[in-house]
Amino acid sequence: MTVPPPIVAPSILAADFARLAEEVRAVENAADWLHVDVMDNHFVPNLTIGLPVVQSLRAATELPFDVHLMIEDPRRWAPGYADAGAYNVTFHAEACDDPVALAKDLRSAGAKAGLAIDRDTPIEPYLELLPSFDTLLIMTIKAGFGGQRFVPHLLDKVRTARRHVDSGHLDLRIEVDGGIAADTIEQAAEAGADAFVAGTAVYGADDPAEAVRRLRNLAERALAGA
Ligand code: DX5
Ligand code: ZN
Repeated sequence: MTVPPPIVAPSILAADFARLAEEVRAVENAADWLHVDVMDNHFVPNLTIGLPVVQSLRAATELPFDVHLMIEDPRRWAPGYADAGAYNVTFHAEACDDPVALAKDLRSAGAKAGLAIDRDTPIEPYLELLPSFDTLLIMTIKAGFGGQRFVPHLLDKVRTARRHVDSGHLDLRIEVDGGIAADTIEQAAEAGADAFVAGTAVYGADDPAEAVRRLRNLAERALAGA
């Protein structure tokens, strides 16, 4: 099987919100996607940015937007992000009673559809829904805040998903989010992830673009050996 090149998606949650456009441009030539964390203070306790910021930022960069909605009632809000030009819109399984219907709505609005699985949610009940999705985001922390410590045993879900995706020949990215850094990305890649969100590891570095390239190299090497 040919291994697709890994995706590295810096999370602007760790960027300086007063200089967002500049912070995005700092990774423009290094990143594959830009990960945008939308939190509503209900699904998670934290509050971040919403549609108006995403709309403004869309005009400031060529990078594809990987929007991660940590919100309640995604059926009401998610299609707006697709309309705003997001490349991929991911919503949480825990927040949606009909994930397949919303995936269809997102695809008809021109975006890819992503399903996110939080720390305490098992993956098994969702495996059969995966043909309706383009990305599966497996949290490697509890969703809500950046800068948390990576939880290694959550990679068991990545392994289960990878086996399912490969045996079913599904065309799906398996993305990990939370605590991804130079000392954790290889184990995530070996477990079967092929898209990697990194906030602190990118924007906490002196040179964010260089940090992205370093992460990609580590992931590439681990995927080639996996
Ligand atoms: C947290 C967000 C993550 C966050 C990751 O709920 O979904 O995308 O930005 O931050 P780090 O890479 O610092 O763990
Ligand atoms: Zn995220």
